[in-house]
Amino acid sequence: MRTYLVTGGAGFIGSNYIHYMLKKYGNEIRIVNVDALTYAGNLENLREVEDLDNYTFIKADICDKEAIGKIFAENDIDRVVHFAAESHVDRSIKEPEVFVKTNVLGTAVMLNCAKAAWENADGSFKEGKKFLHVSTDEVYGSLENDGEYFYETTPYAPHSPYSASKASSDMLVRAYMDTYKFPANITNCSNNYGPYQFPEKLIPLIINNALQGKKLPVYGDGKNVRDWLYVEDHAKAIDMVQEKGRLFETYNIGGHNEKQNIEIVEIIIETLQEMLKEDDPRRALVSKDLITYVEDRKGHDRRYAIAPDKIKAEIGWEPETMFAEGIRKTIAWFFEHEEWMKNVTSGSYQEYYKKMYQI
Ligand code: NAD
Ligand code: DAU
Repeated sequence: MRTYLVTGGAGFIGSNYIHYMLKKYGNEIRIVNVDALTYAGNLENLREVEDLDNYTFIKADICDKEAIGKIFAENDIDRVVHFAAESHVDRSIKEPEVFVKTNVLGTAVMLNCAKAAWENADGSFKEGKKFLHVSTDEVYGSLENDGEYFYETTPYAPHSPYSASKASSDMLVRAYMDTYKFPANITNCSNNYGPYQFPEKLIPLIINNALQGKKLPVYGDGKNVRDWLYVEDHAKAIDMVQEKGRLFETYNIGGHNEKQNIEIVEIIIETLQEMLKEDDPRRALVSKDLITYVEDRKGHDRRYAIAPDKIKAEIGWEPETMFAEGIRKTIAWFFEHEEWMKNVTSGSYQEYYKKMYQI
């Protein structure tokens, strides 16, 4: 039975990944989820799996080397999938230091503890051990012209404190691979959307505000472009990279699903209007009149677009969920999980931790 150490598994992508993996592999794998439960970590995301014998949650900070070392000592970890990070660009502009601490120092601690646990006396590594570092397309900077794409060879040019901290963490992983032949991969993915996404990010924020008739803030001219990927497709790609990818390689994940922010907002409004029943009182609230252009994000990257050629050619992965389908699935999920959204926006999920874990 293979054991996975997943960091940041109580967050958006990490929890989707855990659900995906437990559905796919069942009892063939064991998952140890390590998360500090910051504002972005929510154990409600994992309620359906929390009682499984092959799933364990440990509350720990990835910067705490004693705690992480102990987890490696007490569990024979085969795979690390490292999601834990501060992930929101706007927060990084207001408060950069925590991004440096978690994303850079935290990654260094994870690498060092994995290395200590997996290294043989002669400096080689135990058979089959693998570390996957989950990173972002934002490390490549901003594209100005249509037809340009981010490739694995595109030079790093991060602009925000968030992307600079992720770029630094990627460089550390590269340094471990180059210096020690540490068995790792890096994945750089585009914007994700789907169930359990915290409503500080564009798509869940727009869905939540629109349903309450609140203003829909669009930064700048609304024409910045992001390349949107349904989160389950990302989870599948990560698994495929660990199973089929070549060690020491970087793989870009994304896939020609570029949209301007204003298009995203308009699609969400139209889809909500289609999906809400005639007699649903929220239907009258959802309107394009709610769109409000606000001050632009500082240093706002204009366009991101991934060329997923390498992962397709070497591993056979490509995105399966087209945006029209993915956004309907996402909205349907939010309709079915109104309580989740209420708890997240009211902060009452933090009460739940206190009750469940005395933390
Ligand atoms: P998220 O903010 O939803 O979740 C982050 C998780 O990490 C939370 O559960 C949080 O509690 C945990 N965490 C934060 N600091 C920690 C610490 N010091 N120790 C332990 N746990 C800690 O983030 P997300 O959107 O799920 O992103 C996950 C990863 O994927 C990040 O590394 C991010 O850079 C990367 N990524 C995200 C996207 C995206 O669109 N969301 C795209 C590409 C890459
Ligand atoms: O590209 C991958 C990155 O995608 C990840 O590495 C990050 O962790 C993730 O947060 C995301 O970063 P973005 O900054 O692209 O995502 P966000 O949802 O914050 O914003 C998407 C776009 O929408 C961006 O151009 C800013 C704009 N925006 C965002 C918000 C929250 C608005 O216009 N209004 C808003 O209220």
